[in-house]
Amino acid sequence: MDRFRIRGGRPLSGDITIGGAKNAALPLMAAGLLTAERLVLTNVPKLADIVTMRLLLEQHGVAVEPATNDGRTLSIGGPITNTEAPYDIVRKMRASILVLGPLVARTGEARVSLPGGCNIGARPVDLHLKGLEQMGATITLDGGYIAATAPHGLKGTTIVFPFPSVGATENLLMAAALADGQTVLANVAREPEITDLADCLVAMGARITGIGSDRLTIEGVKALHGATHPIIADRIETGSYACAAAITGGALHLRNGRLDHLGAVARTLREAGVEMIEENGGLTVRRLNGLHGIDFITEPYPGFPTDMQAQLMALMCVAEGASMITENIFEDRFGHAPELNRMGANIKVHGASAIVRGKPGGLSGAPVMASDLRASFGLVLAGLSAQGTTTVNRVYHLDRGYETAELKLAACGADIERVGG
Ligand code: UD1
Repeated sequence: MDRFRIRGGRPLSGDITIGGAKNAALPLMAAGLLTAERLVLTNVPKLADIVTMRLLLEQHGVAVEPATNDGRTLSIGGPITNTEAPYDIVRKMRASILVLGPLVARTGEARVSLPGGCNIGARPVDLHLKGLEQMGATITLDGGYIAATAPHGLKGTTIVFPFPSVGATENLLMAAALADGQTVLANVAREPEITDLADCLVAMGARITGIGSDRLTIEGVKALHGATHPIIADRIETGSYACAAAITGGALHLRNGRLDHLGAVARTLREAGVEMIEENGGLTVRRLNGLHGIDFITEPYPGFPTDMQAQLMALMCVAEGASMITENIFEDRFGHAPELNRMGANIKVHGASAIVRGKPGGLSGAPVMASDLRASFGLVLAGLSAQGTTTVNRVYHLDRGYETAELKLAACGADIERVGG
């Protein structure tokens, strides 16, 4: 299993190109199941999760072909020959559940293994299933699989979400695009990745209003057609490298980074003493003076994203003063806290909250273990700022969501290398 060896204490400076958003690319690839024509996606990131989604689509019979030499444009299309999403693929990536809505909407049936994915709590899929049932699908669970059928097609209806789930919003939005009649999805999630999906569906011929709000109205159509769609830049990758500039006391230009998509992350970083300026097709990020402890709570967009919690926690470990971090989205997402404490941090977890007492004097290098994708980057950040050598084990988590992270960081002056075996 690969690990990163980091010798910390070097301020980063230079340019980092932010790739296409993983969490936009995955539902967009699933949207390829909605049409018999070709969906061409540009700005596709090269990540382990994208390979997993590609394998999943291919075993449904759909071709996923690189359309340019750099492999960042994928052309997706072809007849669906198999409607089962098998355990061996789905267990690697929870977002595999996103094929459920499109498969049922297009073919009237699907059998999808119950998902696994990141090790951050129970993560049920009840909202996805209830929504499809409300649209007329019959759903049964058997042998670890979700079996959904709608032999006469899905029917439009009104679905009120008890909680704005990102994945359930995407699944039901895709299903509603081909349903018979009008579907209203209320209290839905409105992350930029959902807007990106909705924009692509519209380009494919879907009729959607309310895009970007918490209420989507979809007039179902009989068929969708092909389209070409550029994937938005990854706001979590942007925020993660902004933290790298801040924690090392350096300055980075994040090409393609957007302040409007960062929302609460930009506000929180600024409050902590980080300057962020939109210029030259991206964001310039630098630490002004010292970092200050700040409190934040993870919430659905436009609130502070759970996917940035670990990175900000690493930053708070070296800030002046205390910080209270409350995790409202997932019940078990502080796996990085004990690892950061092994590097000299002072973090106490009380239920859904963590108190970080910052140490402006810094952390010290240690061997640590990544527990999930974003936690891994939190540990890398700690390693970049720490005195001495840090080894981050299990970077396969990080590879799911950060393309060549060690190369991007090394090009800006970090002393970081990937060690195999
Ligand atoms: C997506 C993101 C993930 C991010 C998360 C929250 C992708 C591929 N993944 O995950 O990176 O951390 O949004 O921003 O885009 N829930 C239920 N029942 C459901 C669905 C969800 O109870 O049917 C709960 C979950 O357990 C969790 C919360 O709702 O506590 C949020 O989950 P959700 O928004 O669905 O996250 P994902 O789509 O899985």
